[in-house]
Amino acid sequence: MSFYIAGTGSALPEKSVGNDDLAAFLDTSDEWIYTRTGIRRRRVLTHEKLNDLAILSARRALEDAGVAGERVDLILCATMRGDTVTPSLACVVAEAVGSHAPAFDVNAACVGVLYCMEIVDSFFAAGKAETALIVSAEAMSKLLNWEDRSTCVLFGDGAGALVLKKGAGRLAGVLSTDPDSHVIRMPHIEGMNSPYNQSEPQPLCMHMDGGEVYKFAVNAMGRNIAEVCRRAGIAPAEVDWYLPHQANIRIIDASLRKFKIRKEKVLTNIAEYGNMSATSVSVLLDEFARRGTFRRGDKLLFVAFGAGLTSGAVLAEWNKGAE
Ligand code: ACO
Repeated sequence: MSFYIAGTGSALPEKSVGNDDLAAFLDTSDEWIYTRTGIRRRRVLTHEKLNDLAILSARRALEDAGVAGERVDLILCATMRGDTVTPSLACVVAEAVGSHAPAFDVNAACVGVLYCMEIVDSFFAAGKAETALIVSAEAMSKLLNWEDRSTCVLFGDGAGALVLKKGAGRLAGVLSTDPDSHVIRMPHIEGMNSPYNQSEPQPLCMHMDGGEVYKFAVNAMGRNIAEVCRRAGIAPAEVDWYLPHQANIRIIDASLRKFKIRKEKVLTNIAEYGNMSATSVSVLLDEFARRGTFRRGDKLLFVAFGAGLTSGAVLAEWNKGAE
């Protein structure tokens, strides 16, 4: 027995910024961004706090699952950075939903939710929890250099959540790291007030070698899909729905091409939201779950890659409502 997905939720900033809006202050165009990435728009934080979106998405997932906050045994937040270094975002969510369960953040960049699912699987297997809340929240707009057209056009902000309950659902999972500190890098602001600090302050923003990330991503997504299906003992064609990390539509197409998957099985929302890092797969799941896309027993395959370089895949049957 492992977990099944019992509820989902999401919360996005109000402001939607189109490619043409970016072209007003950057040397770029809708044509360049859309043909290279599949992105038309992204949501961007203005007056909202990331913590508040995380809490709202958590409340929606708990309500969807019919679970009270105090009944949750474990809270994990997939994020690169909440509004505060401490308390962790997971503790902020725990306070808001009235939980005293263990709560901690997981930073695995865009693969964070998949890492959290596998941690939940281990807690459940060890008998340490039976109901878990996974929240993902990313404020990408606050981590970017808005003068760098090669990165700032790619990302968006948002939060998503899922409630996992002990039961039949997860079929297999695979996680890995291809350690690399250079192709995607985002330094902290460090020690500015320390009288002992001797290191040069670095600007807080993302540096990315897009071409290298692209090559890694296509390879890692394909490798993880093949491996998770092998572990579950099914063929990639038997998967009902693919939920890939929404970084670039060309990466999604290229990594799935060799499996000859029918296009309508591959779910995307990148055109509307861009790359929301860890939050991409959870918002994607919530949107399609609420549209009634999934039927009991459908096989869902989550696959992602991210900074680190992290990657992974989780295969789970849709058994929402199973008690
Ligand atoms: N508008 C117009 N021109 C641009 C823009 C822009 N927004 N950005 C870059 N360019 C220019 C560059 O300056 C370069 O010009 P040059 O050839 O004159 O030097 C040219 O466009 C680059 O074009 P390509 O190399 O053909 O671009 P490519 O097709 O490789 O697409 C992209 C670039 C979209 C970044 C692609 O490499 C990619 O998607 N990589 C993966 C990125 C990714 O997935 N990141 C997520 C990481 S996970 C995480 O961060 C948490």
